[in-house]
This record gives sequence, structure tokens and C-alpha cells, in this order.
Amino acid sequence: MDVSKLMFRPGLMEGERILVTGGGTGLGREMTEAFLKLGATVYICGRRQNKLEETAQELMDAHGGKVVGIACDIRDADAINAMIDQIWADGPLTGLVNNAAGNFISRTEDLSVNGFNAIADIVFRGTFYVTHNVGKRVIAEKGRCNVLSILTTWVWNGSAFVVPSAMSKSAINTMTQSLAVEWGRHNMRFNAIAPGLFPTKGMSARLSPGGRGGNSNNEINPMGRHGEMHELANLAVFLMGPGADYVNGQTIAIDGAGYQATGGTFWSTLQGLGDAEWEQLRAMIKGTNAADKADRATG
Ligand code: HXC
Repeated sequence: MDVSKLMFRPGLMEGERILVTGGGTGLGREMTEAFLKLGATVYICGRRQNKLEETAQELMDAHGGKVVGIACDIRDADAINAMIDQIWADGPLTGLVNNAAGNFISRTEDLSVNGFNAIADIVFRGTFYVTHNVGKRVIAEKGRCNVLSILTTWVWNGSAFVVPSAMSKSAINTMTQSLAVEWGRHNMRFNAIAPGLFPTKGMSARLSPGGRGGNSNNEINPMGRHGEMHELANLAVFLMGPGADYVNGQTIAIDGAGYQATGGTFWSTLQGLGDAEWEQLRAMIKGTNAADKADRATG
């Protein structure tokens, strides 16, 4: 990310202590960089300790400050509790970014129960487990916490071929609206961002394997391009930093109006595929999953 394009004053986020789930890679890493650059201490979790340490070191070398990587699979509530205990030993969190996710394109009739759960356990259950764990501590200690969840525009209109993700993210949209009300009096606020296309490695390999698919390619976006990371980071800082504290219970799209123009879904690009093409895409995605798993085993 080009940090010179951050809109905010240096030191804006001093004193903030933020956990970014899935912060070692992709969008999570970009938001971590912005928070760090503006003075926050950032904890990042993911499934690969080596990747987290590498990211933490790179960001601290570039900007100073403190980033701590803690390996944690957010499908495991006990592992989450141990991670949050470790963070709280240094001090309470003041912010949480629910960014970790899993997704792949598939015809719904081709999904197994395990395939559904692989996504729902991360996005739907895991996000709740982390939010619940942090929220209970904040209430007990009369602290404060700002929660931001990374969703998609499908929370408004659903999306064919990514049904477990669309269902799970819709549920987190509902969590955002519900807890904004229920926990507002406990000094917590809840907002969400629905990004359009911000290409990352994990996303491209599973949502447009081999360049096929994609939900909002540059040509059909009204602005003729995908999003730039600093644009997403600026919105995340606006929602997470001090100064806009009355914004609560909102989900804000950042997609160049792709949602208004095309619905932001996979229907138009994938509806015509036949069995053989789906088989090919599935093989590519499963190849990526297997390679990632091997990497996690060594990390
Ligand atoms: C059908 C598939 C499949 C596919 C996996 N499965 N890929 N089924 N088509 N393409 C099935 C497997 O066969 C298995 O079911 C089950 O899913 C679990 O597979 P594993 O490989 O063991 O899963 P696991 O290692 O737990 O990995 C989870 C994952 C993986 C979600 C499948 O993709 C992952 O770790 N992703 C993290 C990164 C990521 O997805 N990033 C993109 C996020 S993009 P069976 O029945 O065979 O046991 C995003 C939204 C972007 O979130 C929005 C853009 C606008």
C-alpha cells in the first residue's frame, strides 16, 4: 500500500490496541499497516505463525511501533480464548477487526456438508466466537471497543455460486446491527465494510481460479477499475479511529458503485459454465487449498 495516500494525521491511533483477524495477509495486512502507521499497537492472528511473524517484522521494519502475531484458528473457541488471554495480559483491546474469512466458488449442488462448514465455521461461527469473547471482557471491565467486520455487498442481495459465504456474511451483517444496539451502552460500536474487488492472492485463487470467474471485473465496474488498498484502509481508519464515534450499526460499501451497476455477484460470469468447466475450477481451487495446507503444516 502507498501509505502516503493515508488521509489521516500521524498519531491519530496512538493508544489504540487492535486485533485484526487474518491480519497476516491480504486486506487484513493492509489495514494492519494503516493502523500501525498511525500509531496503534496491532495484534494479528491467522493459521500460520511463520507468516504472521514475517508480516509483523516487515511492518515494524517499515514503520516502527508494535505488531504481534499470534497463531490461532478462529474455528476453535478455546484457541481464541487462549489468544485473547495472551493479548489481555498486555492490556485490553480497544478495537477488533473481523477480517478472517474463507471462500471458494462452487455450484451449491456440488458442495458437501464439510464444504459448507469449512466456510461457515470461519466466517459465521468464528467471527461470533471472537466478537463474543472480546465483548464479554469489555463489558466486565467497563472498557471500550470498536468492532469492524469485513463483509461483501452480497449481504444485501445474496450471491449465486458462493452461497455459504453469502449466508455467513449476511449473518455477520445482522450481528453488526444487533450488537450496535445491544452493546452500545457498554461503550462498544459495530460497523462493517462491504468491499468490492480489491484483488488479493487468497481471493483470486478461490474466486477467479486461472482468471475465470470474478465478481466485478474492471471492465464492468462503473469506474473501470478495482479498488486500491489505501482506499479501503482510509475507510477502515475512519471507522476504527477516534472522531466518528457516533457512526454505529452501519455497513458501508466501497466498490465504485459496482453493486448498483451489476449487483456485484458471480451470476453473469459463471452461469454458463458446464460440468467439465466446474470440474476444472474445482481442481484448481483444491490445488490451492492443498498447497496452503502443506504450508501451514511446515509453519
Ligand atoms: C467444492 C470444496 C472446494 C471446491 C474445498 N472444498 N474446495 N468443495 N468445491 N472448490 C471442500 C473439500 O472437499 C472439503 O469437503 C471441505 O471443503 C474442506 O476442505 P479443506 O481443503 O480441508 O478445507 P480447509 O483446509 O479447512 O480450508 C478452508 C477453505 C480454504 C475455506 C476451504 O479455502 C481456506 O483456508 N481459505 C482461506 C483463505 C480464503 O479463502 N480467502 C478468500 C476469502 S475471499 P469434503 O466433503 O471433501 O471433506 C472472501 C470474500 C471476498 O471471503 C469477497 C469479494 C467481493
